[in-house]
Amino acid sequence: MILFSRILSIASLPKCVTWAMCRIPRRSFRRNFHRRSLPPTILSEIFAGKKTKRITAADFGKDATAGSDLQRAVSYETLCLKEELLCKVSEPVGDCCHKVTIVGAGMVGVAIANALLFQRIVSHIAIVDAFPKKLEGEGMDYCHGSVFLGDPRIDYDTDFCITSNSKVIILAAGVRQIKGETRLDLVQRNSEILKNIVPTLISYSPNAIFVIVSNPVDILSWVTWKVSGLPVYRVIGSGTHLDSARFRYLIADRIGIAPSSIHAYIIGEHGDSQVPLWSGVNVAGVQFRDILPNIGLETDDERWFEVSRAVIRLGPTVRCLKGYSNTAVGLSVADIVDAILNNTQRVIPVSTMIQGHHDICHETFLSLPCTIGENGITNIIRMRITELEKKLFQASANVVYNVQKDVKT
Ligand SMILES: NC(=O)c1ccc[n+]([C@@H]2O[C@H](COP(=O)([O-])OP(=O)(O)OC[C@H]3O[C@@H](n4cnc5c(N)ncnc54)[C@H](O)[C@@H]3O)[C@@H](O)[C@H]2O)c1
Repeated sequence: MILFSRILSIASLPKCVTWAMCRIPRRSFRRNFHRRSLPPTILSEIFAGKKTKRITAADFGKDATAGSDLQRAVSYETLCLKEELLCKVSEPVGDCCHKVTIVGAGMVGVAIANALLFQRIVSHIAIVDAFPKKLEGEGMDYCHGSVFLGDPRIDYDTDFCITSNSKVIILAAGVRQIKGETRLDLVQRNSEILKNIVPTLISYSPNAIFVIVSNPVDILSWVTWKVSGLPVYRVIGSGTHLDSARFRYLIADRIGIAPSSIHAYIIGEHGDSQVPLWSGVNVAGVQFRDILPNIGLETDDERWFEVSRAVIRLGPTVRCLKGYSNTAVGLSVADIVDAILNNTQRVIPVSTMIQGHHDICHETFLSLPCTIGENGITNIIRMRITELEKKLFQASANVVYNVQKDVKT
């Protein structure tokens, strides 16, 4: 009898173990690679309809892969089904080689994510922000739409560990100017943010290319380069890519052809001292200067100079009308990321170290047309510009340097 009961208990042991495993929460022994990083605290509040505990950034970042209460409840039921359904052959790769991180889930960060995801430029995106609630809302929204986006993997958290092994890191975090604050104060505050986050990001992604979007973008690109110790080609400021796109759009609008058929660049600061290169504007190789020698100058009767003046006003105008500017910058940044991930070597005007170019002696970041590929910036185009354009470019460098020289790195 004793022998029989022992045999029975040994035979039923595997069943008992399976039964017990089904009742242990999965998080205690398994990490689901495709689980979204949702903090339990915020959702439990929403579903319980009451505030149980004050949510802090520390709470949010604690458990990047733990999942929400809602998801965990579903997981209890599906564990055994999953075991029954799937016969594991190998471990899935955690971070794909084209992973892109966006730091800052504000208006600009979200527009960049939209542009990258909607155009299917990336299949794995990580979004980090210091403010958990907005981040979670944005992250959930993307996850819910993932079925329409080619099933990208979307991670989001306040914990920078989710950025590991990124190929590209986009910095779109920043604080806005507060009343009475000088431009230098704002630069210093945003520099402090970068000084805190850049070393952490590099520790998680030592081979990443950095794309800086936060303003003032030229100075913050220089700060990123300084504090990171990275080679200069791996730090790219989004610079005047957006301004050049606006320039092309306004010219195209005036003559009634497609903006992509207008070849035109703005170089220098992403700001008031930017320089429109009227000497190079052309359609199908036909130089506008050959038709209208003083185009863009004050003496031009057709008043084309109004176009380049309007470009400077477009950012503030959009901000004034809708409260922020994000869609066009999001698309321009996605264009830079596309050139990196696909190693296209396309020519794009971006902010880079321009010391030695056009007789600039300061260690300053400003935009010039560059080729961009997998390593970051591969060439700076030696632009044939007029003496006036060169003088304006040098003046732009001085404007940026005069603020930058007082920034503490
Ligand atoms: N380069 C361009 O062409 C261009 C165009 C538009 C805006 N911008 C700049 O982009 C930046 C973002 O603009 P926005 O409209 O999205 O601002 P926003 O205020 O909507 O978003 C900024 C985000 O940064 C986050 N943040 C702040 N500190 C952080 C930190 N330490 N770590 C992680 N996240 C942090 C905030 O929580 C916020 O979500 C600004 O500096 C803005 O001037 C650049």
